[in-house]
Amino acid sequence: MAEQKATTSVLLEETRIFPPSKELVENSNVMAWMKKKGFTTEKEMRAWTSQHYIQFWGEMAKDYVDWFEPWAQLLNWQPPYAKWFVGAKCNVAYNAVDRHAKGAKKDKVAYIFVPEPTDQPTQKITYGELAKAVNRLANGLKSLGVQKGDRVSIYMPMIPETAIAMVACAKIGAIHSVVFSGFSSGGLNSRVLDAESKVVITTDGFFRRGKPLPLKPNVDEAVSNAPSVQKVVVVKRAGIEVPWNPARDVWYHELVAKQSDACESEKMDAEDRLFILYTSGTTGKPKGIEHVHGGYCVGPAQTLHWVFDIKETDVWWCTADVGWITGHSYVVYGPLVLGTTTMIYEGSPDFPDFGRWFQIIQDNKVSVFYTAPTAIRMFMKAGETWPKKYDLSSLRLLGSVGEPINPEAWIWYRDNFGGGKLQIMDTWWQTETGTFLVSPLPITPLKPGSPTFPLPGFNIDILDEDANPVPPGTGGNIVSNTPWPSMLRAFYRDPERYKKEYWQMYWEIRPGTYLAGDKATKDKDGYFTIQGRIDDVLKVAGHRISNAEVESALVSHPKVAEAAVIGKPDEVKGEVIVAFVILRTGAQESEDLKKELSKHVRTVLGPVAYPEAVFFVKDVPKTRSGKIMRRVVKAKALGNPTGDLSALANPEAVEAIPLIK
Ligand code: WT7
Repeated sequence: MAEQKATTSVLLEETRIFPPSKELVENSNVMAWMKKKGFTTEKEMRAWTSQHYIQFWGEMAKDYVDWFEPWAQLLNWQPPYAKWFVGAKCNVAYNAVDRHAKGAKKDKVAYIFVPEPTDQPTQKITYGELAKAVNRLANGLKSLGVQKGDRVSIYMPMIPETAIAMVACAKIGAIHSVVFSGFSSGGLNSRVLDAESKVVITTDGFFRRGKPLPLKPNVDEAVSNAPSVQKVVVVKRAGIEVPWNPARDVWYHELVAKQSDACESEKMDAEDRLFILYTSGTTGKPKGIEHVHGGYCVGPAQTLHWVFDIKETDVWWCTADVGWITGHSYVVYGPLVLGTTTMIYEGSPDFPDFGRWFQIIQDNKVSVFYTAPTAIRMFMKAGETWPKKYDLSSLRLLGSVGEPINPEAWIWYRDNFGGGKLQIMDTWWQTETGTFLVSPLPITPLKPGSPTFPLPGFNIDILDEDANPVPPGTGGNIVSNTPWPSMLRAFYRDPERYKKEYWQMYWEIRPGTYLAGDKATKDKDGYFTIQGRIDDVLKVAGHRISNAEVESALVSHPKVAEAAVIGKPDEVKGEVIVAFVILRTGAQESEDLKKELSKHVRTVLGPVAYPEAVFFVKDVPKTRSGKIMRRVVKAKALGNPTGDLSALANPEAVEAIPLIK
């Protein structure tokens, strides 16, 4: 490894390789398994586990999970439908809390909760206490009539009750649908309607940048036309006045106060649905990704244990919000099944200043830390003085997720969080996959910006249009050739779309090939690099938003006739949303209207989808069938070559798109 001090110009062509320390390798969880099995090299181990993936997952399922009843068959694979652990009975809540609460981990801290306001104390919740809290709420939900298979929407900030609510649902066999609290009432409404939720769990409000802000009014609006919703359970978090409907609303603290703290976990079939999580696709309608109990007992815990090398004494902090898949798998199910101590922080990374996260790491001796490139780039901009003020020596391993991490940010992360020596686990995965698919292990030599290789138990490849693996350095579609336990099972109430979006592409040539929707390359050593989405899905600060969703929000404004939305590259957020809007006849263009339209999107979808800029245009390029050519809009707006325009119905519209750089 070259010892030169990296400068930006050097970093643009980062070619260094960062091997792990001998100590990390020798003590790693994966190495213990390799020794047990007689593997001497990582390559050999990765190759064997890929080839024998069914056997591998069977072994992992025994190592990590307590089953009520064993499976009759490990895998039933009828592409595109996989069933794992067929006939087995289990419950992820049993594995996440019950077994710890009655065992050696009873008094171990499960969650350390740091409220945003600095005058509120940090709270520690042991596994014993967590089990009781889960049981009380599980009984409370039952008392409200929630039964196995019913859907419960959870719309909450980052507080322990959010995790408790998820596990309580799992315990009684209800299916949770967590909706990120950065979505507005419109985003919540469409998700509640689609899931036909019986109950919504929320809070009065939450703290953001030191201020209590209301949340419940969004729920009131969202459920006003949702007849399935019978009860709204409200956690008192912000202590603010909120509108109250006594026939429907129930205070969480009053509900659980009356309940027993004992509740048996429902014996679920391994393939029973655990949750629905809505994510953005290419149309305006979010897709309800379904995950199951069996897969979630195994996948998150095993991948967390191997990739992040979690030990009994580790304090794990994954900064993701539970409203996204990363929070589901690596704030809730993975760490709880392992019996890990996990941080939950309520607020902004820069409140009251850019030292907050470093302070939390120092105060709580966080040892393994997992965040998103957008956060790293924000800290990079804020400067090295912030991490330098704090003692970060408790950290021993770092991670990254959500979008490609550029080598500059990778090096900065290693230098400033990791004292110039910690390894970074750049994990590539998706809402659909449930767990990491391509990722380093603690034993892997790293190349900055690369998630390295497919994990054990996976068969990931990069294919050209004819399903041939691409040669080194050539871009192609990243696919999975085989199923895995924590994969999505279907789309809630939309089986056709499931087939079409993930399996159709290679169906004629190689049925059962999962199309992830990302473009990637491999280098001559087999290291993967992810180049971004192949479809019209945006990644704004790591959050997945569809162009079409933002466009339909814009078109719902009375003055808008049509809209084309693109992602513009951004130093910190990866990309930001830019909208090109055609006004209806009679509407007057103005700066105020631009602001009004951005605000309108925030009202309809939430702050997460706020357009950074709006431009008025007379026309947008379209195909003859009327499809807006976002690719062409984007190329023209960013000053890139627009390519072949012969398919356009209105090539003159291209000229009218302004350069926005
Ligand atoms: C998309 C999935 C996976 C949890 C958070 C996002 C992008 C994710 C990486 C990474 C490059 C990444 C992909 C993927 N992505 N991780 N390490 N390197 N790109 O889940 O919201 O379902 O988004 O995020 O484009 O398809 P999601």
